[in-house]
Amino acid sequence: MSFPKGFLWGGATAANQYEGGWNEDGKGASVFDASTAGSVTKSREFFKEVNPDIYCPNHVATDFYHHYKEDIALMAEMGFKAYRMSIAWTRIYPNGDETEPNEKGLQFYDDVFDECLKNNIEPVVTLIHYDTPLHLANAYNGWYSRELVDLFHRYTTTVFERYHKKVKYWLTFNEINCIAIGNPYMAGACREVEGVSLDQVTYQAAHHQFLASAKAVKLAHDQYPDLKVGMMLGGLFFYPDTCHPLDMQEYQKSNYQQYYFSDLMCRGYYSNRAKAFLKTKGVELVMEDGDEEILMSGKVDYLAFSYYMTINATHVYNPELKLAGSGIASPKNPYLQANDWGMEINPIGLRYYLNELYDRYQIPLMIVENGLGHIDELVDGKVHDDYRIDYLREHIQQMDLAINEDGVDLMGYTTWGCIDLISAGTGEMKKRYGYVYVDRDDLGNGTLKRYKKDSFDWYKKVIASNGDDLD
Ligand code: BG6
Repeated sequence: MSFPKGFLWGGATAANQYEGGWNEDGKGASVFDASTAGSVTKSREFFKEVNPDIYCPNHVATDFYHHYKEDIALMAEMGFKAYRMSIAWTRIYPNGDETEPNEKGLQFYDDVFDECLKNNIEPVVTLIHYDTPLHLANAYNGWYSRELVDLFHRYTTTVFERYHKKVKYWLTFNEINCIAIGNPYMAGACREVEGVSLDQVTYQAAHHQFLASAKAVKLAHDQYPDLKVGMMLGGLFFYPDTCHPLDMQEYQKSNYQQYYFSDLMCRGYYSNRAKAFLKTKGVELVMEDGDEEILMSGKVDYLAFSYYMTINATHVYNPELKLAGSGIASPKNPYLQANDWGMEINPIGLRYYLNELYDRYQIPLMIVENGLGHIDELVDGKVHDDYRIDYLREHIQQMDLAINEDGVDLMGYTTWGCIDLISAGTGEMKKRYGYVYVDRDDLGNGTLKRYKKDSFDWYKKVIASNGDDLD
């Protein structure tokens, strides 16, 4: 068995956690630039202003802004066919509501894409990875405001026009479903509104994101027909905790909460199920004439998703339940091991999930995040990360089975944090995913020097053999 010819092997990063240079060359602050990390406060906290007295790990991150040539050379050495990254909206429109873009920001991504293309690496570009401009959060309450649809469209129009010859594969919103998993601020830049339920705020904001995404897809289809625009789903995939009928129901309900997002973006309308779901949450969407047409005209070309773990769903409320690595209270799966952050590792679950998604939508899939967050030790310039190799090998084996035994159309695999970067969830540096170790710690100490881990040579071999050699 083998992977299809042209399979997009590679790695993934995002501007907010990797780029740094947070206020250089005209860049504005995003919501991430006004946050701090678990190493300083207990968990990541978001503030209204950038506070120079509180350490924000994302300001420097692992400094792709000044290391992009070196980093892309490392990716090329591993043989990457694709590199998933994101553009920081705040580099192009610093506050999000200007009428003219920032040329220096545009130039930076021109340079990055040129560097990729020179090395035969296909960029896969996310338009927004949790980093709404801070100004839009404060002045508009983020995505709860419909005005963001047009502001985002201005940004999308600018970047499509500028880069359509260099970038073929695009994604609109990173993990769009995460706005409803306790993250309305990180994913939607919106805070609670007095007298309005949090669900109402969240699902209204999501409606605006759906419109913005659909408009981006339609723009690409109308003006740049060679482009492929996908959606990105946070792969929170639930197992029933037991075969108790009520656990099965809970499992279906928990998974539906994620499919609510992908159904809409892949099918282009609010189904009966979606309407009933909103009703049970007491949500009444405010829609304008023409919204339904916009959604229908902006169905995505492919579905990209992240996959790190599975989560057990139970109908039994138990105050003892621990927050799993997903941030969701759930019982432990006794058949799985977890990483230090409680993410339960389930390679076979990836095959199951690939089948679920492909059966449901029948459009090409791309895994744009997967990997093991782990504490790595740098000793004499080396990191022996066999645990990471094992994790990746087992997931790749299941991808192979899904493609060759089940007929899933999988276009590519870009593993998360291919060069070490800052964790989104906790802001830690010590939770590393990469093939390349970056010398930086939780408090911002370190030289930022890059070191190849053992997994670097292993992944190089995997790519060179198109997934045949996994030893
Ligand atoms: C995904 C996000 O949820 O998971 C990334 O798209 C994130 O931004 C990744 O970094 C891993 O999560 P964490 O919390 O370990 O960074």
